[in-house]
Amino acid sequence: MIILMTISNTDIVIEKGTPIYISLYGLGTDPRFWDEPEVYNPDRFTENNHITDAYMPFGIGPRMCVGMKVGQLHAKVVLALLLRDYEMWQTKDNECFLDPRSTFTAAGNGINLHFRKIITRASN
Ligand code: HEM
Repeated sequence: MIILMTISNTDIVIEKGTPIYISLYGLGTDPRFWDEPEVYNPDRFTENNHITDAYMPFGIGPRMCVGMKVGQLHAKVVLALLLRDYEMWQTKDNECFLDPRSTFTAAGNGINLHFRKIITRASN
């Protein structure tokens, strides 16, 4: 057995070649890294706000995602197109919970969004 490392203060040994999964949800909701992690607060991401390395949807370091900017741009374009034409909301009866059987972060009951088309009158 080739040992890669031993986790400090434990007798857990990780062998070379062992796949390691890190829970991004766990990192994203850890109060050691975030104030009020359960609160939805987009202002955390305002420009010049320091964002901890615990935020790593695109990985970090030399192997981080090379398509990050394209991915973010794509998501913004899709959101902008949707929000231009639709109101979107979720109701309390459709509250989300995590799928406890999923290896990855996944909604246990789907994500139930309501859409209503925004009707705009043409101005004269
Ligand atoms: C929202 C969209 C995306 C997310 C969340 C995402 C996330 C990730 C993550 C987590 C990694 C692994 C980073 C690591 O090992 O530390 C990765 C790697 C990578 N991504 Fe993305 N990605 C996205 C979009 C894209 C797009 C649009 C492209 C190409 C145009 C792309 C190309 C790549 C490549 C080539 C790697 C491997 C980089 C390497 O190993 O050196 N990704 N991505």
